[in-house]
Amino acid sequence: MRVTVPSFAKLNLDLRVLNKRADGYHDLRTVFQTISLKDSLRIDFDFAKQTRIELDCSVEIADNLVVRAAKLALEQVKVKAYVRFQLKKRIPLGAGLGGGSSNAAAVLIALPALAGQRMKHETLLAWAETLGSDVPFFLHGGTALGIGRGTELYPLPDLPQHYVLVVSTGIHVSTVEAYGALRRPVTNALTSAQESPILREFQAIAWALNSAPLEQLPLKNDFEPAVFKTHPELAAVARKLLRLGGKPAMMTGSGSAVFGVFESDAGTRRAAAEFRAANCYQVRFLSRRQYQAHWRRALGTASATSCFGN
Ligand code: C5P
Repeated sequence: MRVTVPSFAKLNLDLRVLNKRADGYHDLRTVFQTISLKDSLRIDFDFAKQTRIELDCSVEIADNLVVRAAKLALEQVKVKAYVRFQLKKRIPLGAGLGGGSSNAAAVLIALPALAGQRMKHETLLAWAETLGSDVPFFLHGGTALGIGRGTELYPLPDLPQHYVLVVSTGIHVSTVEAYGALRRPVTNALTSAQESPILREFQAIAWALNSAPLEQLPLKNDFEPAVFKTHPELAAVARKLLRLGGKPAMMTGSGSAVFGVFESDAGTRRAAAEFRAANCYQVRFLSRRQYQAHWRRALGTASATSCFGN
């Protein structure tokens, strides 16, 4: 059996980092958004006496999440299989675009379906969070609030269409170091909403997201000050995107990709002309409806519907 499935990237339209928890993770408040930038994953699947997993990837990736996700999914559904993956990467690595997490989620969705099993959304979510904090979001797609480690998700209504220019300079930012640089207090107690300006500001954004134009919201990424200090060239990219009309113009995740949101395709095209073509991706927001429709086309309505809990 063979399928080719899409694996889309995400942006963090807003990202606030609260306390460092006793388990080593930080409590977050974020707004995730899928975009049309995608990797493509071809999967050949045959039942076998022993499990064997092979990955052919267009770029070298240490500790590829595809293989880890495949082992987990096969163990959980109690199936032995010979699985060959062919991964065509277009999402830049280590850029805060969630490429590895999205690949992992794609495997969790597709493999049980290939093994003839229909998984519940909640089951997939539980597997996903063992692979990484951003993986569960890709079992929803569209626009969603992420809280806790980023794994507690609240889908939001789809936003109007927006056009995005993603600029990825190839600078690598270590996620662990980016969190460390924030020096957040270690505590399991969240500051109460009355006391914490971060929580209040985030709540106001979440509240206004579907009524006010995106460009009027005070969207923010808490990683920017520290990462921009270490890599001033990223701050320069953000300033340039803002000058060219991107609103917001900001970093995604812990970086290093920076993006500008535009109202029209022509806006992203004009801005892209001012950057090196190799660093630019002209994409759009991908709504939850569009995201899940891609999956239904790839796997069939019945399998996809149960994975997404609809
Ligand atoms: O969950 P994931 O494997 O993507 O996280 C990588 C690292 O990023 C964690 O080991 C942790 O240091 C940091 N992290 C964090 N708080 C989060 C998510 C990630 O401190 N909510």
